[in-house]
Amino acid sequence: MASTTKLLLTDLMSGMSHVPSNYIRPFSDRPNLTDVQTSDASSIPLIDLKDLHSPKHSDIIQQIGLACQTDGFFQVKNHGVPETMIKNMLSIAREFFKFPESERLKMYSDDPFKTTRLSTSFNVRTEKLSNWRDFLRLHCFPLQDYVQEWPNNPPLFREQVGEYCTSVRGLVLRLLEAISESLGLEKNYIVKALGKQGQHMALNYYPPCPQPELTYGLPGHTDANLITILLQDEVPGLQVLRNGKWVAVNPIPNTFIVNIGDMMQVISNSRYKSVLHRAVVNCNSERISIPTFYCPAPDAMIGPARELINHDHPAMFRNFTYAEYFEKFWNRGLATECCLDLFKPT
Ligand code: OGA
Ligand code: NI
Repeated sequence: MASTTKLLLTDLMSGMSHVPSNYIRPFSDRPNLTDVQTSDASSIPLIDLKDLHSPKHSDIIQQIGLACQTDGFFQVKNHGVPETMIKNMLSIAREFFKFPESERLKMYSDDPFKTTRLSTSFNVRTEKLSNWRDFLRLHCFPLQDYVQEWPNNPPLFREQVGEYCTSVRGLVLRLLEAISESLGLEKNYIVKALGKQGQHMALNYYPPCPQPELTYGLPGHTDANLITILLQDEVPGLQVLRNGKWVAVNPIPNTFIVNIGDMMQVISNSRYKSVLHRAVVNCNSERISIPTFYCPAPDAMIGPARELINHDHPAMFRNFTYAEYFEKFWNRGLATECCLDLFKPT
């Protein structure tokens, strides 16, 4: 059957009425699409960054700290990334995934360590079960080191995606200062701990799925990096685990979803939590989401901040390099057990 040789889901699934068997989760691990709460501003906090540099500064810092502590997730508005850049970013991603297979496949690779690549699922080299997702992954900082590897079709791809990355980086740096401050650390503590920091991005494409109750776009996982800034289109799909229940985070236009990654949990000595989240799919609409992952340098030594270790809060993790963590994270596949458990003190 010709279709089984397709590399990407987008090309495999057209006209299909059932999901192939490698996408079907065991009974105990299916999304249960009816038992989900819907978020409102009171469940996943929505923080207005307009007042970050005003007399309300300490109030905003407190809101951020509380959100990181209790939810590991928050939404931000008035974040400084212009509306037109967001719109361009989403439409360019949509356009890219509409290209003929031959055009998209120029970027295909199943090597997770390649800096620019189009792939599918999560890690096709190691996983047995597949996820209902194709994705283009890009390294974006320093921009000039990577931009020439990026697709040059759509013709404005490099320019518009480059502008978006640079603007989101500004937002990340403001958030990292605010988060350092909320932990009682020096403003530049976290940025300094990262060494020559990296910024990666995924353009996630979730095609409509004939049987969304059997599979995931992405199963429950935590993010390995420091902090993630997610842009999603108007189609819901992201769910966050909150008090043992999955909460759907419904899109609010021009709002980003921010979540704490594993490295922030380590630096904060578990004061802040890297929380499980997942993406579900649906029968009717394709969905695009664009996470920006901000990361330490591969050789950065990551460990709990000394200021956050004391008699009542012993160190929860040993020190390790981000390269060591990243390799374990990708090779074990997406698993609900957090990879952090492998880095407890010895
Ligand atoms: C991710 C992720 C969520 C989404 O790419 O790590 O959690 O809604 N994505 O696509
Ligand atoms: Ni994630």
